[in-house]
Amino acid sequence: MDLARHGATPAGGVNRQALSMEEIAARRTLLQWAAGLDLRAGTDDAGNFFLRMEGSEPRAAAVLTGSHIDSQPTGGKFDGAYGVLAGLECLQAFRESGVRPRRSIEVVAWMNEEGSRFAPGMMGSSVFSGARTLPEILEVRDRQGITVRSALTTMQEAFPDLPRWELQRPLHAYVEAHIEQGPLLERHRRNIGVVTGIQGKRTFEVTVTGEQAHAGTAPRAERKDALLGALRAIDALCELCRDEADLARFTVGRMDLLPNAPSVVPARATFSIDLRHPDSCVLRELGDRIQAVCEHHAEPCGVRVRELSTSMSLEFPLAARELIEASARRLGIPSMEILSCAGHDARYLHEVCMAGMIFVPCKGGISHNEAESVEPGELADGARVLAETLWTLASQA
Ligand code: GLV
Ligand code: MN
Ligand code: MN
Repeated sequence: MDLARHGATPAGGVNRQALSMEEIAARRTLLQWAAGLDLRAGTDDAGNFFLRMEGSEPRAAAVLTGSHIDSQPTGGKFDGAYGVLAGLECLQAFRESGVRPRRSIEVVAWMNEEGSRFAPGMMGSSVFSGARTLPEILEVRDRQGITVRSALTTMQEAFPDLPRWELQRPLHAYVEAHIEQGPLLERHRRNIGVVTGIQGKRTFEVTVTGEQAHAGTAPRAERKDALLGALRAIDALCELCRDEADLARFTVGRMDLLPNAPSVVPARATFSIDLRHPDSCVLRELGDRIQAVCEHHAEPCGVRVRELSTSMSLEFPLAARELIEASARRLGIPSMEILSCAGHDARYLHEVCMAGMIFVPCKGGISHNEAESVEPGELADGARVLAETLWTLASQA
C-alpha cells in the first residue's frame, strides 16, 4: 500500500511509468526499506535496480528474485510490485532470523517490464540477459518524444551513488513471484501456482495511411479514410484469430489518429497489436498473416506493418517447478501447475539460468486494471514459498 502511493490514481490504482518521477520515488522508498537490512544496492546500464544480500560465499553466482515496479497507465497495485516486495520481505526475514545464505540473494526491479511508456516491454531483463542490446533500446521514444536514453539519464542522475553492476552477470537461478492475473487459482482454491511456462506473444505496430480531407465536403467515394481502413483491418484480424477453444488472444489496445480532429477525415491511423497463443506454431502462422489481411481490408488505404517483438512459448525447467512445488508442500500450502498467459521478465532470465515462477491468486482474475485486488494471506503464502525456494537455491553448491 505504501509503494502504491507512488503514482496512485484517484480510482485506487497505480500509474507508475517506467523511468518516471513516480518510479524514481518508488525506488527511493525501496532503498529506505532496505536500509537496516545490510543490503547492497546497485544498478546497471539498462536501468535495472538491485538489492543484494551478500552470501557466505560471495563469489558464487547469486540467486535472483523480483519483478517490476512500473505499471500500466491505469494499472493495479500488485502487478510486478508484489514480486519485488515479496523478495524484499524474504531478505528481511532471513536477516531477522540471523541466518546468512551460502549464495548471495538479490532482489531486482526490472526496467520497463510493461512496455506501456516505451515499447516493447521487458527492456531491462532482455538487455540484462543479452537478448537485446543496449543500443537497440536507447533510441526508443515515448509518446512525448522522450528517448529511453534520456529517461535513463534522469534515473541515473537521481541515484548518483549507486554502483553500476555488469549486465549478463552469471546467475545461479531466478525465481519470480507474481499475481496470476487470471482466475484459475481462485477457481481451484489453490494459493500457489507452480508456473509451467509462458505463452508466446508477438507485438506489432500497424500504420494505415489514407488521405486527409474535409469532413463536410469530401464525397464518400473519393475518401481514403485511414480510420475506416484500420477498423476493417482490425475486424478481419479478429475473425482470423477467433478459435473455438479461445486460445488465441488478439488485442488492439492503442490507436492514434492524425490529425485527430473532429472535422477532418483521418489521414493516418496507427494501432498496436498484441497477439498471444500457447502454441508457437499457431502464433507464428497467425502473426505471419497480419500483413496480408491488413493490406486486403484497409484498401484503398496503404498499410505498413512493423513487428516490435517476437517471443515464442516457453517451458520452465522441471527442476525449478519441482523445487517450488516441494517448497509449497513442505509448508502445507495447496498448489497447482499453471501456464502463464501473461508475459514476465522470467522469460528472458530463462535464457541465462534456471528460472521459475510462483503465482498467487488475485480477485476475479482482474489485472491491468485499477481494481486489481488480492488477499493479504495469499500474498503471505506466496512469500513463504518464495523464501523456502530461495533458501534452498542459495544453499546449493
Ligand atoms: C505483461 O504485463 C503482459 O502484458 O503480459
Ligand atoms: Mn507484471
Ligand atoms: Mn503487467
